[in-house]
Amino acid sequence: MARTSKSGSTRGQVSRKTTGSSAREATARAPQTASPVLNQRGREIQRFDEIVRLPIGLDQNTCRKSVKALNQVLADTMTLRDLYKKHHWQVAGHTFYSLHLLFDKHYEEQAELVDTIAERIQILGGLAVAMAADVAEMTQIERPPRGREEVPVQISRILEAHEQIIKFCHTAAGEADESGDDGTNDLLVSDVIRLNELQVWFVAEHLVPEPLLRASE
Ligand SMILES: [Fe+2]
Repeated sequence: MARTSKSGSTRGQVSRKTTGSSAREATARAPQTASPVLNQRGREIQRFDEIVRLPIGLDQNTCRKSVKALNQVLADTMTLRDLYKKHHWQVAGHTFYSLHLLFDKHYEEQAELVDTIAERIQILGGLAVAMAADVAEMTQIERPPRGREEVPVQISRILEAHEQIIKFCHTAAGEADESGDDGTNDLLVSDVIRLNELQVWFVAEHLVPEPLLRASE
C-alpha cells in the first residue's frame, strides 16, 4: 500500500505531478486559483446620474428627484461630520475637555446618519456620492481653513452647517411627501432634521455668555 503524505497525496502521485515536461505543461495550464488578479479597470456599470429600477412601488422620476436631494444632504452631512472631527482635534481653551468629547459624539452620530442617507439613495436605485473630492465639489457648506480657529468660530461654523442642512431638508421633505416618497420623507424628518436639531441645542448652549467665575449683578 502506498504511504500517504501530510497533504493527503500518495508518493506515487506526487512524483507523477512534479516530473517530466508534460507535467510542467499541465502545471502551466492549471488555474492559479489563490492568486489575485491585480491592476484591473473596466467600464462603469452604472453612471452616477443613472437610476436603476427596483420594485419599491415608486416611479423612476420620483426616485430621481429624491436621489438628487438626498445626495445633496449626504454631501453636506459628510462635510458636517468632518467639521466635527476637525474641531474635535483642534479645539483649545478652558472648555477643551467637554467640547473634545461632545464634538466626537456628534461626529459618530453624523457618521451613522451618513450611512442611513447613502443606503436610502441605493434603495431608490441611485448612487450615493462617496469620495471626499466629489463631496467637496457638491457641498454647500463653507470650507473652513486648515488651521485652528477659536472656539466661538468653530461653534458658529457648526451651527451654520446644521441650519443649512435643516432648511434644505424641510424643503426636500415636503417635495418627497408631495411625490409620494414616504420613506425619504420619513428619513429626512425623523433622522436628519431631528438629529440636527438636537445637536444644535447641545452646541448652541456653549455660546450663551454665562459668567465663569463671578455672577452678574
Ligand atoms: Fe479622538
